[in-house]
Amino acid sequence: MSVHKEIKKITTHTLQEMKRNGEKISMLTAYDYTMAKIIDNAGIDVILVGDSASNVMAGHETTLPITLDQMIYHASSVIRAINRALVVVDLPFGTYQANSKEALNSAIKIMKESGAHSVKLEGGREIKDSIERILTAGIPVMGHLGLTPQSIYKFGTYTVRAKEEDEAERLVEDAKLLEQYGCFALVLEKIPAALATKVANSITIPVIGIGAGSGVDGQVLVTHDMLGMTHEFSPRFLRRYANLYESMGNAFKQYIGDVKSKNFPNEKEQY
Ligand code: KIV
Repeated sequence: MSVHKEIKKITTHTLQEMKRNGEKISMLTAYDYTMAKIIDNAGIDVILVGDSASNVMAGHETTLPITLDQMIYHASSVIRAINRALVVVDLPFGTYQANSKEALNSAIKIMKESGAHSVKLEGGREIKDSIERILTAGIPVMGHLGLTPQSIYKFGTYTVRAKEEDEAERLVEDAKLLEQYGCFALVLEKIPAALATKVANSITIPVIGIGAGSGVDGQVLVTHDMLGMTHEFSPRFLRRYANLYESMGNAFKQYIGDVKSKNFPNEKEQY
């Protein structure tokens, strides 16, 4: 399997070429320099500076409280670590919904102050003007449909979306519209696998799934979840590749024990 190691930097065009060639796209979140460096060196295609930072980094219950300046802080830390991956940054809640001018200003601020490569917005036809205006400034836009966490108070729960026919039909239409507006890719979150496959087969831009099955063009997970650092969050779609909650906890306990027992530092660990 090729991981595009020979390509210096992943661009929006690389991702579209990967879809054409049937090569799956790997994407993970990062919010800080150290994690981004490890993920980029491992050969990831896309790093998402997600507004899930609001949950994972700041401990908020939803993604709504995170601000544009906080997203820029996370994005610029990530950008300093990257050699290869394409970096996508979420426009946070309240910075693009009011009107397209505000959306453009928010996207420009992210690009200018963090050095990111693209932005992601949640929604379909209702944010058409914002998407098109951001694109006119030459800023690549990734879409996001299905479970869109910034609308959690409208949905009421984090359960699977688009199980009913009318919502599924609207989602397929929205995906086609996002392609028409000029989005370079699309995230589909927590929808039935058959529907996600249908979307991926009906548009030419890459579709990256989270809880959307295997028939899409790539996968994204929240890094802290797949590393098993957030042990209380266990949706069906989450595969854990490590149990860092336990191994980090054990390391901390060992350190505390060593300090208390005067085992640390030893002779060789001092000047
Ligand atoms: O903010 C985020 O981490 C996301 C992913 C879940 C796709 O939007």
